[in-house]
Amino acid sequence: MLPLYLTVTDKYLKYSYKDIDRNETVNRIYNLNLALDLDANFSNFKSKVPEFFDVVVIMNPIDIEIRDTIVSCANRPIDISLYMENLFHVPTVGINNVKRYGLQKATANEKDYAGWHLDYFGTYEGKKEYGQESLLTIGNGFFGVRGTYLEARANDNNYPGTYVAGVYNQLSTFINNQDIANEDLVNLPNAQYTTFSIDDGDFFELKESDIEMVYRTLNMKNGIFSTIMYISLQNGKKLKVTTKKVAHTHHFHSYSLQYTVQPLNFSGKIKIYTEIDGAISNKNVKRYRTLDHHHLRIDKTEVSDNFALLLAHTRNSHVNIAISSIVSSPNEVEPKIHSDKSQEKIGQYMTFDAKENESYTLEKTVSIYTSLETKGDLIEVLKANTYHHNFSDIIKNCTGAWKEIWDDEYLEIDGDITSQKLLRMNAYHLTITAHQNVNRHLDVSVGSRGLHGEAYRGHIFWDELFILPYYNIHYPKLVKSLLMYRYNRLDAAKKYAQESGYTGAMYPWQSAMYGDEQSQSIHLNPITNHWEPDNSRKQHHVSLAIAYNVWNYYNMSNDEDFLQEYGLEMLLNIAKFWISLASYDKDTKKYNIDDVMGPDEFHEGYPGAKTGGLKNNSYTNIMTSWLFKKIEQIVNRESSETLRENFSRAHFTDEDIEKMHDIRCNLKLEYNENELLGQFEGYFNLKLINFDFYRRQYGNIERMDRILKAEGDSPDNYQVAKQADALMPLYNLRLDTFLEIMDDLGYPVKDRDKFIENNIRFYLSRTTHGSSLSRIVYSMLALKVDDLDLAWKLFDDSLTSDYYDIQGGTTAEGIHLGVMGATLNVVISYFAGVDYRGHELEIDPKVPEIWNSIKFNMNFKNVHYYFEVDHEKIKIKTDKDTQVLFKQQQVPIKAHQEHVINYSKVIVQP
Ligand code: BGC
Repeated sequence: MLPLYLTVTDKYLKYSYKDIDRNETVNRIYNLNLALDLDANFSNFKSKVPEFFDVVVIMNPIDIEIRDTIVSCANRPIDISLYMENLFHVPTVGINNVKRYGLQKATANEKDYAGWHLDYFGTYEGKKEYGQESLLTIGNGFFGVRGTYLEARANDNNYPGTYVAGVYNQLSTFINNQDIANEDLVNLPNAQYTTFSIDDGDFFELKESDIEMVYRTLNMKNGIFSTIMYISLQNGKKLKVTTKKVAHTHHFHSYSLQYTVQPLNFSGKIKIYTEIDGAISNKNVKRYRTLDHHHLRIDKTEVSDNFALLLAHTRNSHVNIAISSIVSSPNEVEPKIHSDKSQEKIGQYMTFDAKENESYTLEKTVSIYTSLETKGDLIEVLKANTYHHNFSDIIKNCTGAWKEIWDDEYLEIDGDITSQKLLRMNAYHLTITAHQNVNRHLDVSVGSRGLHGEAYRGHIFWDELFILPYYNIHYPKLVKSLLMYRYNRLDAAKKYAQESGYTGAMYPWQSAMYGDEQSQSIHLNPITNHWEPDNSRKQHHVSLAIAYNVWNYYNMSNDEDFLQEYGLEMLLNIAKFWISLASYDKDTKKYNIDDVMGPDEFHEGYPGAKTGGLKNNSYTNIMTSWLFKKIEQIVNRESSETLRENFSRAHFTDEDIEKMHDIRCNLKLEYNENELLGQFEGYFNLKLINFDFYRRQYGNIERMDRILKAEGDSPDNYQVAKQADALMPLYNLRLDTFLEIMDDLGYPVKDRDKFIENNIRFYLSRTTHGSSLSRIVYSMLALKVDDLDLAWKLFDDSLTSDYYDIQGGTTAEGIHLGVMGATLNVVISYFAGVDYRGHELEIDPKVPEIWNSIKFNMNFKNVHYYFEVDHEKIKIKTDKDTQVLFKQQQVPIKAHQEHVINYSKVIVQP
């Protein structure tokens, strides 16, 4: 092993390593620049050390139980492992652990630890802290509870949100001379609030000056979020407070917490106090606070013995909510339990005659039931199912349940602990946002910001297209439940189409409880603080995403029943909508689709136009052509009875089939003589933008739309994009399928390599990545042109986007589930190269150079696969006989036997 030895002081870092070539030990000093922050110091340090070492050993950690890597640096304690591991992607261990276990074992332990834990050391403020709370959220598909300190109430630094999937409420606020309706995922009463007092004094409140040291960790292996806090009060009293919190996996209505207080230098009366606090509202997103955000009415609070109950309902959607709390203590002397209640809050507390250095614990289980998923009398059901065990049993149960989850979702990246950690983090957040054991009881789908915050009001977008593939390869039944959310809102989509003058089903751009359009008609520009018109609802391509998800699920699961009962009806209705939108132009002999917006939201209309909408958006037209072709294929295959049934339900006719065929071969694209695909008709006439000019002025120009609007200009005037649009079909479809569609449409691509290269370069240079969904799509596109450096850079930026909150504070308002799903998708479909979009798996790996191998499980067409892909070979094991496609050749795979395919070396540079 090659270690880098590091001694950290307040003013400098002393480091040493072995120079292999010269066979000598090098000792160096790196002086910290205290005018810069630590991140900047450490990234400068990175350039000073050699590239190759596989562990960092900290030579002078502070002797404290939390971690063996806490040091004093720049006059404060930090966990140096968090910095070093993120910088070098290798384990960082403390010298005490090296002495205890030996270097090899200590390194292996840390590699395992780092891959499973999301840790934060010290106190943070504002959006940074809000963002960490989003990432530390616990949940189980039914609810999400933000990873806030238990002692925190909502304020500028903390936001203890609790959300149940599908619980929305609509309110209306008079703004800008109009009534603005907002349907929000409702923040529910805060039942995690817990704190303590000493000798009947004031309750402890989080104050930086009282916190000596604090460590927060989310153990993704078993779903437990813990904190250890060393407190030193103004009066000299010192305490250690440890907390744990976990969402139950099987008993999905509940979560449990444990709160332990240990007086370190005194004895006295300790009271541990916990609440169900109904005096809350939706306040996570600052710019929405001018809108009415009081969605709940508290109906009743009751408390007896150790049981408390709060009943509430949403003001307009009339969802009844019951939240209960049961408290107990594992301490040998059973403590006294007291309670109090007001109209909106219930407090429960225990008092202990505490002795110095002894620990005192309150345990609490919170259960949440709503009238959405629970039939009958809520209180009766809740009381009959009340669930409370001691915390160690709960941990045992959850650890077992999470083991099953991680066995299903097995993914191991060898050679890069940071990627391993963050890919697990993404998988964790996808899993706590939806799970098949839970979602089969619910009528919901996944919002773009998870159950983690209030941005986009918890709404459901086309982002499902980026999220569902990961669920598809692990839990096809879950995908069926999520698609049923859309099926159950087919009537709403038909109504929306009809009201807009179309036929078939037009799904809303933003969907919530009922499936009606929930996009705003105006939105607040944070640069100008002005409300501006919002045309995003013209993104009808969301219906194409839903059709794509239906087809993808069907292709991957072979669920014929779903197709016959629900899927085909949805596809036909969506097709009918596009037929009604397409109009024939006698002059060009082509069909046009007008008045839409593509995924690139910067373009809402033509320069200077009074109304929004664009003509012949190529993403929309290509995906419409794809959909029509898919339906033709299904129609050619299905029985006449199935077709009769579905045609009748969707009012679909043979004439529609003919129309579909004509349209899918004649939709117009903007395609110029250089084989550049225009984003929409007229795109090439738009002005170019001088990005450097704006970069100099604004620094970050990702949200170029807001900048231009603030200057009285408009992105409509320029060739500037928020995210992939014209090239998005290449994310959805195999290249061959894409090229076939170009042929079908009458725009055959002559030189496919040139086409791909030119178009990717063209759009990359015009894209500011204002959406978290942008870089990951371009990462995969860069792989197509073998720009491996760029592919890695864009992938890495996407993988770390929520962790570093690269969009300037948006993680504070919820995670970005779309990019999380998409990074997992890129790892499996492009880096490991297992493409599941056809009839058989097609394999073409491009493993990043920094990684040694990618190992994972997946399901495809009812076959369970295990893959191990490194730079030279692909190992495959399945549970049934099957075959895969490799370099256009079919490779037969025998069940339970390991197959090895050797392939030529293609490397993605870090
Ligand atoms: C992106 C959309 C996305 C939405 C919700 C926007 O910023 O441009 O593509 O659907 O966020 O995640």
